[in-house]
Amino acid sequence: MRPIQATYPATRFRRNRSSDALRRLTQENVLTVNDLIWPVFIQDGTGQETEVASMPGVFRRSVDGLVRAVAEAAEMGIPAVCLFPYTDPSLRSETCEEAWNPDNLTNRAIRAIKAEVPHIAVMTDVALDPYSAHGQDGLMRDGVVLNDESVEALVKMALAQAESGADILGPSDMMDGRIGVMRLALEAAGHKTTAIMSYSAKYASAFYGPFRDAVGANATLKGDKKTYQMNPANSDEALRLVHRDLTEGADSVMVKPGMPYLDICRRVKEEFGVPTYAYQVSGEYAMLKAAAQNGWLDGDAVMLESLLAFKRAGCDGILTYFAPEVARKLAKRF
Ligand code: PBG
Repeated sequence: MRPIQATYPATRFRRNRSSDALRRLTQENVLTVNDLIWPVFIQDGTGQETEVASMPGVFRRSVDGLVRAVAEAAEMGIPAVCLFPYTDPSLRSETCEEAWNPDNLTNRAIRAIKAEVPHIAVMTDVALDPYSAHGQDGLMRDGVVLNDESVEALVKMALAQAESGADILGPSDMMDGRIGVMRLALEAAGHKTTAIMSYSAKYASAFYGPFRDAVGANATLKGDKKTYQMNPANSDEALRLVHRDLTEGADSVMVKPGMPYLDICRRVKEEFGVPTYAYQVSGEYAMLKAAAQNGWLDGDAVMLESLLAFKRAGCDGILTYFAPEVARKLAKRF
């Protein structure tokens, strides 16, 4: 349906923009604290806090400090956090067993958060890169990332996270068939309410660089991830992947990176109408922060504008490193 529009001067678009009140009344999309998922980095020890060099304002925290930061986020109304571990290099291996160790950093953090801040949803990352000696998201043999063997390992990892109390599992590995196997395993183990947010359309992107610094994967990663992450040139394929993951039991889907892929967000939302999320990734955060620190952009304004763009594109929520900053800013608006 196309709205009927008289010609000028009967129609003047500027009337609806002529005051703050009119602009608010005619605003189509709104960003609220309910749209935010905060990705956080964890490290071992106690009382530890390390700023990620390429992500000003983002810290890796030991579990004690993490719990305090998450409590503050919950206080501000942020509905979910997503955990990413920096695994000690001595625990990274070819076989990646640390990934499903019930006492690994992520699982300890899940339990600590759930004990202290039970109402915030805890999302996890299901992929082997923080645990593998080679920095790839799956198991490798003869230089090839294996699919089915990786899925088996990922399912063990997912079950350990669910057992620790994770509310949402986020498979970010892009192996084929992992959602279906994971869903059946969760059901069989009695984890009937554990949600899966599938990284369905995850691209082999250069915007992940600062994240790989944060989890120590830039040091380990050899080669690229193009045999499992998507080709940035593709769009139809994203719809087929989302369709596949939904039929296998995903509760929601994600597009990643965010800003350069808003067209994909829009297509996914329009085609399927399911809960759709975008990940404003580390490189996007780094770009905006760097420009703001140089005085080249108004940091607060571009932060809010970039996140509102996700809502306009049809997203139900955004994973963003800006989450606490945005929440603080939104709370001060009135
Ligand atoms: C790894 C993973 C990555 C990100 C989230 N999970 C990096 C990668 O795929 O290499 C990137 C997040 C970001 O850049 O903020 N499974």
